[in-house]
Amino acid sequence: MVTAVAQRLASQRKEIDDTLAAFALSPTQLQEVKAKMRVELERGLKKDSHPTASVKMLPTYVYRTPDGTERGKYLALDLGGTNFRVLVVKIRTGMRNSVRMYNKIYAIPLEIMQGTGEELFDHIVQCISDFLDYMGMKNTRLPLGFTFSFPCNQTGIDKGDLVCWTKGFKATECEGYDVVDMLREAIKRRNEFDLDIVAIVNDTVGTMMTCAYEDPKCQIGLIAGTGSNVCYMEEMKNIEFVEGDEGQMCVNTEWGGFGANDNIEDIRTRYDREVDGGSLNPGKQRFEKMTSGMYLGEIVRRILIDLTKHGLLFRGRITERLKTKGIFETKFLSQIERYIRSILQHLGLDSTCDDSIIVKEVCGAVSRRAAQLCGAGMAAVVDKIRENRGLDNLEITVGVDGTLYKLHPHFSTILKDTVRELAPNCKVDFILSEDGSGKGAALITAVIDKYLYAMRFSDETLRDIMARFRREMENGLGRDTNPTATVKMLPTFVRSIPDGSEKGDFIALDLGGSNFRILRVKVSHEKKQTVQMESQIYETPEDIIHGSGSRLFDHVAECLGDFMEKQKIKDKKLPIGFTFSFPCAHTKLDEAVLLTWTKRFKASGVEGMDVVKLLNKAIKKRGDYDADIMAVVNDTVGTMMTCGFDDQRCEVGIIIGTGTNACYMEELRHIDLVEGDEGRMCINTEWGAFGDDGTLEDIRTEFDREIDRGSPNPGKQLFEKMVSGMYMGELVRLILVKMAKEGLLFEGRITPELLTKGKIETKHVSAIEKSKEGLTKAEEILTRLGVEPSEDDCIAVQHVCAIVSFRSANLIAATLGAILTRLKDNKNTPRLRTTVGIDGSLYKMHPQYARRLHKTVRRLVPESDVRFLLSESGSGKGAAMVTAWASRLICSDPPYITCHSFTAKKKKKNAVS
Ligand code: G6P
Ligand code: G6P
Ligand code: BGC
Ligand code: BGC
Repeated sequence: MVTAVAQRLASQRKEIDDTLAAFALSPTQLQEVKAKMRVELERGLKKDSHPTASVKMLPTYVYRTPDGTERGKYLALDLGGTNFRVLVVKIRTGMRNSVRMYNKIYAIPLEIMQGTGEELFDHIVQCISDFLDYMGMKNTRLPLGFTFSFPCNQTGIDKGDLVCWTKGFKATECEGYDVVDMLREAIKRRNEFDLDIVAIVNDTVGTMMTCAYEDPKCQIGLIAGTGSNVCYMEEMKNIEFVEGDEGQMCVNTEWGGFGANDNIEDIRTRYDREVDGGSLNPGKQRFEKMTSGMYLGEIVRRILIDLTKHGLLFRGRITERLKTKGIFETKFLSQIERYIRSILQHLGLDSTCDDSIIVKEVCGAVSRRAAQLCGAGMAAVVDKIRENRGLDNLEITVGVDGTLYKLHPHFSTILKDTVRELAPNCKVDFILSEDGSGKGAALITAVIDKYLYAMRFSDETLRDIMARFRREMENGLGRDTNPTATVKMLPTFVRSIPDGSEKGDFIALDLGGSNFRILRVKVSHEKKQTVQMESQIYETPEDIIHGSGSRLFDHVAECLGDFMEKQKIKDKKLPIGFTFSFPCAHTKLDEAVLLTWTKRFKASGVEGMDVVKLLNKAIKKRGDYDADIMAVVNDTVGTMMTCGFDDQRCEVGIIIGTGTNACYMEELRHIDLVEGDEGRMCINTEWGAFGDDGTLEDIRTEFDREIDRGSPNPGKQLFEKMVSGMYMGELVRLILVKMAKEGLLFEGRITPELLTKGKIETKHVSAIEKSKEGLTKAEEILTRLGVEPSEDDCIAVQHVCAIVSFRSANLIAATLGAILTRLKDNKNTPRLRTTVGIDGSLYKMHPQYARRLHKTVRRLVPESDVRFLLSESGSGKGAAMVTAWASRLICSDPPYITCHSFTAKKKKKNAVS
């Protein structure tokens, strides 16, 4: 009897042991796993074998780990692990250990994980929206790093096509598509905030970066969590399908796919096959299904059912609960030693003491195998790195994250022991990532962004700049403060915008922008006012711009003579309006003393002189025609007048071209420098000089300083040098040189062309930022500079251009915002309705500049309705309008009202009454 019981027990024990023996891997088997993994790592890297390799070895476009000098404020998304998280990460002073993070966890309901891609990304964006509200950051357009813990085919740091979903995700219409694009689209659909998605990052890479920030020896990232995966720093020359041989790149192994080519069938059990068959992705991620949290509980459950069926557990009774897929959670494996009773109770299982022991054994066997398999895989990775570097011995650190590793009482020990046994020549340290991969994603964003972070402004900063400029305006207007003010706020003696009554035949000179132009403007008044214009562009050679003042004005007079000759009006003395796009002090309309040259101009003997006198003198000297210069106007004023002709509401004129500047209609009572309190006068702000007294030092970068040093007017026009077309290409060039020197671009190649001033022009920046052909343009332009750009280089350069031009639009939005709030206060109205006339090559030619500017202005001055009106015909037409007004003024008595306009006004009045 006793022997019968003993025999039955012994045979039961044997059955249990046999079942679990399949999970015990011998040292030889583990060596084999390591060897096979090693083969797959190599196959994944090679061009020929890559398509069929089970371990995909995906490039990540992360070239280095953080060096501790990163700083800035970043947003991060962390999708794909147990939790979906939105974070803001602040890296403070460029020191290690100076990161602060705030985050919120959001649920992703099952129906969304397995719904449509659009639903999934809309949900993500809704969570971001909630987070931004919660943080009060809706209006700060932060750079974003996206931890996306799924295999992605990356072609750049911010481009990743989802290869296939893994773990519990299965949203439709995502596989094969660029995840960053999908996120961008969803942000656009919501149309509520804007983000700058800089990087897409696998969780392994994020973890490596997080840990490397603390420990520079960390060059491997391991996740043992819901899923299983490893990344590490590989030599570029070994990554055959990525161009370039220099340096390193982090490779996302996606080792979860190991086994897809049946090479580990010998160690897979029938339980592994069952779990695989019942998963969302049968046949795929076979190694992951033996090693990660998503599946281990399920393996255990199937073993328990099997043992129960054979009468080896729970007296042969299988509960409904135990039949439920997923009921045995992986966290139970971690908790089983301490909480066995309550776990079995939870499953409705009536257990004996023996049952408890057996269940623990099952859990132990399954998790032990998982840890050993990860260890064998890791041994293959560290040995590869050791051989890559030609070392006998390697010391290296692995950054680790994941619930399995963190929560299981023995997983990490078994893993480490296995690595030690299988890779005896490597001393491998494991450090736990405390802050998840979101921080790493932010750090990657920061590495890329190192030179650019200072060029991004939050709305908070922009509002601060707006307030500073507002103060500068007030200083410029005040009698006592004007002499020392940097923003000169020059009275123009233009008192109103065109009223529709102007008429006559005028000549306009237009000097100071990218073209020197002479125009004939005929304004007639048959039934309605019509304007006819003819114009010609004249060269202004460099030697004339930089020569003597008298030569410059002789040249202008000569061109004018030529124009009149061609127009056959040499015998007439037509009134002339002179658009002169430099800062001038006026005491009246036709007297303009040049305060200082700006932009490219530097002719001697002109500063401090009245340009009307200089031009008259040059014309007299010729003696072949007569001229009557009636008004000198700044190009901003000309632009405002041109636009005012079409839209009576226009009361601001801005130029974003070679240079930058703005004018607007100010109440005369606020202009201390001009007599009189009634009505308004146009003020030429000369905002280009904003910052010349050091007010903008906190936002100027090393590149801005370099530009200034190399300019014809060092220390002057500092705001202009940060924003206008004359400097933008050069700013981009200087940043590229710096990045190339750091090895971040062009594989560190620096050519003489790249080092040549002026080789990148603002029109190139505009071309590179075009959405469709931008990258091709970038390649063309960079190739001309001899740097042989890779596709990544082109993407990075596009990014640099966008940052620089975006900064420009942001800064202009801030200064324009200050003018708008001033107008609003002057009018004492709760809501400002106004029109801004704009001109300038940067604004006109850049594909996105205008949109960005308009958007930011509307955000910064929400209590306004601003119409932006492009001046289609330059400032010459506006200059003619001013001249029309001036000539009426002169030929009539009393001043201000000509017979013509007097009757016009009277008629209008009659019509009303
Ligand atoms: C990190 C990341 C997660 C990642 C996870 C893996 O903490 O921030 O996004 O996927 O580790 O762990 P889990 O166990 O959650 O899958
Ligand atoms: C207008 C004017 C120019 C002016 C220019 C600014 O079209 O007619 O004289 O200076 O805009 O633009 P730019 O890009 O040529 O400097
Ligand atoms: C994914 C990997 C990821 C890992 C850990 C796997 O299912 O394919 O990209 O790194 O899970 O989260
Ligand atoms: C000049 C301004 C001019 C602006 C735009 C600046 O350099 O100082 O007077 O309006 O360029 O052309």
